[in-house]
Amino acid sequence: MTHEFRNVSAGNEANEFDVTPWSVTGSVNYDNLIEKFGTQRITADLLKKLASMTGEIHPLLEFDFFFSHRDFDWILDRYQKGENFYLYTGRGPSGKVHLGHLMPWMFTKYLQDKFDAPLLFQLTDDEKFLHGHNKTMAEISAFTDENILDIIAIGFKPEKTKIIVDTKHIKHLYPMALEIAKRITFSTARAVFGFTNSTNIGMIGFPPIQAVPCFLPSLIENKPTPVLIPAAMDQDPYWRITRDVAEKIGYYKPAQIHSKFLPSLETSGKMSSSKPKTAVFTTDDSETVEDKVSVAFTGGQPTVALQRKLGGNPDICPVFSYLQYMFDNPKESKERALKCRSGNLLCGECKQDLSSNSVSFLTDFQKRREKAKDMVSQFMYKE
Ligand code: TYM
Repeated sequence: MTHEFRNVSAGNEANEFDVTPWSVTGSVNYDNLIEKFGTQRITADLLKKLASMTGEIHPLLEFDFFFSHRDFDWILDRYQKGENFYLYTGRGPSGKVHLGHLMPWMFTKYLQDKFDAPLLFQLTDDEKFLHGHNKTMAEISAFTDENILDIIAIGFKPEKTKIIVDTKHIKHLYPMALEIAKRITFSTARAVFGFTNSTNIGMIGFPPIQAVPCFLPSLIENKPTPVLIPAAMDQDPYWRITRDVAEKIGYYKPAQIHSKFLPSLETSGKMSSSKPKTAVFTTDDSETVEDKVSVAFTGGQPTVALQRKLGGNPDICPVFSYLQYMFDNPKESKERALKCRSGNLLCGECKQDLSSNSVSFLTDFQKRREKAKDMVSQFMYKE
């Protein structure tokens, strides 16, 4: 089964891309995507407003990894007027967690720390069972348990974070899912998600389940409660249909802050668990990380002599992107780009930096992942 989100194919023929909640292909033109999805660019004024509340601009914003939003300004306004918001994010547990997934999660943790916000974290095991035919429910459940360790290892506050596993917590989701489902027609779902006659009906009925945590905070707090969703842009179709029904059922539209995709190590497509050789997983050992990074695509020239003469292109280099995303501070990243362009830095040096930084990050992360094994019950949503 394939889902083609026809509405979002964009670009000229040589440069087509496609973004759906289930796959990202081609080289994404993010300006184009903002226009297609009807979201707002994060402006300098919005960053200024945020900085006036947090005291800084987070590097993921400064580097434009988080680049688009819906109603983020509104969430900040409400907060300034004394109305707290919930955070909501999630994971479809179809495999191991890779460094790309950590981007929205680490940013969510940052927002939780800055705004002391409660967080709902949903695992859509149902979605991942329904999508594609290749995994049994037992396999998905095993990934669910493993992925929960990654989520806890991020360092969310246990007293403010609740993990929802769809098949486990369905009784808390189902009544609200019905309210939502009743208000979405097949014709809307087909237009938004690109469902076809060969899509299984489980997938067609699934979107309200992912919408529910946008409104659960209002039930928990017993009053309409603002919700902010940090996620990459691929999840946006879900929020579009959710926003359409929100006011009809008496709640606020959920706000979003969207990130770009961390590229695969191979080339421009997004990092994806379905291409394991081009993704760094949180459970990879040092040797595996070093091997993967050593064969990564770069923006460099074919020979050292040409690199020295012509310089490289950090704009198309996944190694540069990774370093910028996780390890270089803004000053270091600017220097790295300058040195690369002027031919004073070789790809081997950047790969070495990425390998050693990733290995030390993962060594620490894996220790926290081990400790997480004793913390699972603290994080689970009520039974
Ligand atoms: P999933 O498991 O595909 O992705 C989990 C989160 O990671 C983001 N993401 C990426 N971010 C940066 N670079 C990448 N290469 C990359 N690949 C994936 C996704 O946007 C997502 O934020 N249906 C969802 C699960 C879900 C959810 C949510 C996600 C349920 N509720 C609320 C976000 C917010 C899914 O399968 O995500």
